[in-house]
Amino acid sequence: MTGKGNTCVVGLTWGDEAKGKIIDILAPEHDVVVRYNGGNNAGHTVAFDGHTYKLHLVPCGLFHEGVGLVIGGGLVVDPQVLLEEIATHEGVAPNLKGRLRISSRAHTIWPWHKKTEALSEKFLGKGKIGTTLRGIGPAYAEKANRVHAIRMGELVRPEHLKKKVQRIAEAKNREFQAVFGEEPLDPAAIWTEYAAYAEQLAPMIADTTALLHEAMAGGRRILFEGAQGTLLDIDHGTYPYVTSSNASAAGVWTGSGVPGRAIGRVLGVVKAYTTRVGEGPFPTELANEIGNQIREQGHEYGTTTGRPRRCGWLDAFAIRYSAMVNGLDGIVITLLDVLGGLPELKICTGYRVGGEPLAAFPADPQVLAEAEPVLESLKPWTEDISGATRFKSLPPAAKAYVERVEELVGAAVSIISVGPARDQTIFRR
Ligand code: IMP
Repeated sequence: MTGKGNTCVVGLTWGDEAKGKIIDILAPEHDVVVRYNGGNNAGHTVAFDGHTYKLHLVPCGLFHEGVGLVIGGGLVVDPQVLLEEIATHEGVAPNLKGRLRISSRAHTIWPWHKKTEALSEKFLGKGKIGTTLRGIGPAYAEKANRVHAIRMGELVRPEHLKKKVQRIAEAKNREFQAVFGEEPLDPAAIWTEYAAYAEQLAPMIADTTALLHEAMAGGRRILFEGAQGTLLDIDHGTYPYVTSSNASAAGVWTGSGVPGRAIGRVLGVVKAYTTRVGEGPFPTELANEIGNQIREQGHEYGTTTGRPRRCGWLDAFAIRYSAMVNGLDGIVITLLDVLGGLPELKICTGYRVGGEPLAAFPADPQVLAEAEPVLESLKPWTEDISGATRFKSLPPAAKAYVERVEELVGAAVSIISVGPARDQTIFRR
């Protein structure tokens, strides 16, 4: 097996690192783009020819004719959202339905998942996770629990599906009524709705593990598209304030059926600053005027939920941890242009707890919440760099910033993005 031409693009922080743009740029060098984790909690943006496209489930290679698209078995798919997304983009993405394959192993999201999540977040009150309320966590929980889960492959067996939906909805209704005093769901209406989705999706449901291995055997190159980021990974992230899937490169193996050793290159994407949506500790957060300035300059509002994102300094200590977990080969820095014009510029190089430096990024959320960032000041710049296409032409302060990130993280920066458009990109190595 050779994985030389295969690339994994993964977020190094808490998601929203502008991975969509990077996938779109790298897609033409690959033959297939594969989403391997998450669901429509993800919001990936691709911009070209003056238009901006928002994707939640379809891999971001869709705008390149001839590139295959796979929704891997590691995803939880909301069929309605997927069909809407296909309908929205079909006109601009040539032969979208013909190129898209959805793993029969992927799990499905149902109304009871969304209801369960809404109730859970409501009852947690201040202690909530701050999820996207798309039913992602409950769908993964059912997957692990096995009893009430439905995979994509089951959607195309109508009689089986009908019985299973009836059985699950009845069980869920007992729970909703007894525990929460909620109105029951209507199993017949749910089945009718999903049967219609199933009919439309059926031609795209396939054994994508087999397809990907066939593609690799034929020498084709695969691009793995991570959703969310390493610090939101269920195992390696800032648990419990994480998503429910393996958002790091670790998810490739389980989420696509392609072994990890078939990945030739792992590229980690970070913004030139840090953002986070939802709850959870964020040591470099700037709850002040500079944080607001970054939010406005970077348009930091959620693609999926529209929530304002929390903004802060780049956290090289956390990114170094993410680089280690992912086996990073190169860094992609996005939104570097947004830092232009800030009155000051800082990078976090480590954490202190009770005055003592921490040797490693902490697993305990309480320790992370208490961590004080060790901040290093760098020279800010005022120039507009959104037109730069070469590293050489960046202002010295911007170059120094990028080089300092490389030193602190211990990996080279291979791509720099200075704006949303495809040509606002600097390739370095
Ligand atoms: P969930 O994935 O909806 O369960 O949400 C769990 C946590 O992950 C929340 O803090 C969300 O805001 C965050 N999250 C989930 N998906 C994304 C994403 O694509 N970008 C950024 N944060 C995300």
